[in-house]
Amino acid sequence: MTSLKGKIITVVGSGLIGRSWAMVFLSGGYKVKIYDNEPGQASGAITEIRKQIEELQRAKMLRGNLTAAQQLSLLSSHDDLQQALEGAFFVQECVFEDLEAKHSVFHEVENLVTESVILSSSTSCLMPSNVFSRVQNRTRCIISHPVNPPYYVRLVELVPHPETLPAVMDVAYSLMTDVGQAPVRLSKEIDGFALNRVQYAIIAESWRLVQDGVISVKDIDLVMSEGLGMRYAFIGPIETMHLNAPEGKLPINPCSF
Ligand code: NAI
Repeated sequence: MTSLKGKIITVVGSGLIGRSWAMVFLSGGYKVKIYDNEPGQASGAITEIRKQIEELQRAKMLRGNLTAAQQLSLLSSHDDLQQALEGAFFVQECVFEDLEAKHSVFHEVENLVTESVILSSSTSCLMPSNVFSRVQNRTRCIISHPVNPPYYVRLVELVPHPETLPAVMDVAYSLMTDVGQAPVRLSKEIDGFALNRVQYAIIAESWRLVQDGVISVKDIDLVMSEGLGMRYAFIGPIETMHLNAPEGKLPINPCSF
């Protein structure tokens, strides 16, 4: 795969997630053009990003190999979408979590870019087949779902539309890896993706135990914060099971781990 380094990424929507994505991409040396349809919002985002990047440098917590000044020199804001999209190879949409808003953004964007430009959405819970239903060429569409705040939490869930080309998933994966995120690939779309499905399974069981009078709210929270959560901060559930037996066998009895 040809190097993506130094290429242009357009971030559409400059709220919480748009600003954070911009900082992540800048840290990897990408040029970032931010667009927002609220006048003045994108330039305000630049002021905020500058403040954060300079503070991170002072605290020696700036990501990447470039200085704050070098990263900031790669950033620009635009009130005109066409100008913002010029030269981009990847578009990261970060507008409100509203299907109509996403439809209208991708419709506009598709009319302004060439076929090879990858269209990526930050949506937390909308299915790719809905988000991209009005895009003509859906082979270049993907969801790159970050976890808030993306600058500090590295996971990105890559979720394809049923028509997404494998090469598009590969480019998104390379980009996310290159900027220091931790991408995971879903092979097909599913409600809640992976993170929220696991999260909601935990929440549902926690509620059930509290509701059935088995444990208090305070204590079920301790089960996570002083037990499972500590383990799962550095090792996943499947690896935990694998390491549970001397020969690396998965346990048949769930009480054994
Ligand atoms: P936000 O409300 O902070 O920012 C949305 C921005 O989009 C605003 O600046 C708004 O002016 C702009 N916008 C709205 N319509 C637009 C349009 N047509 N063209 C250009 N800009 C437009 O929202 P936030 O929290 O940044 O969320 C953005 C996306 O990221 C949503 O899809 C959300 O589900 C997703 N997400 C949010 C997370 C969170 O914890 N906030 C975590 C992971 C994903």
